[in-house]
Amino acid sequence: MTLFDQLNTAENSNEAVTNEKHLPLITVEKLSPEKIKVKVDVGGGKHPNADDHWIQWVELQINGLFIARSEFSAVISDPTAEFIINANRACKIGALARCNKHGLWKSEIDFA
Ligand SMILES: [Fe+2]
Repeated sequence: MTLFDQLNTAENSNEAVTNEKHLPLITVEKLSPEKIKVKVDVGGGKHPNADDHWIQWVELQINGLFIARSEFSAVISDPTAEFIINANRACKIGALARCNKHGLWKSEIDFA
């Protein structure tokens, strides 16, 4: 089985085998009682960003549903995105990222 055969998570994949960081890091900032800013950072600067190897996109999910997507160009854009979301109750916030060489990676956090 390769990294392209599955949705890679912290539980089922050892990202150390790639010698890079692929799992999206999700941080949340409360802007108001009903709005949050969700920042998704893939790699934290520890993933290549070259013509032949880069993070192609990140997708934001709330309770497993698609919410928004940000696409990246190799080299010129860093794989970091911020999304402003109307969220006034507890939910699961997920981020899906795709590396052109190492497939799909997903992280998820609980927002209360
Ligand atoms: Fe990669």
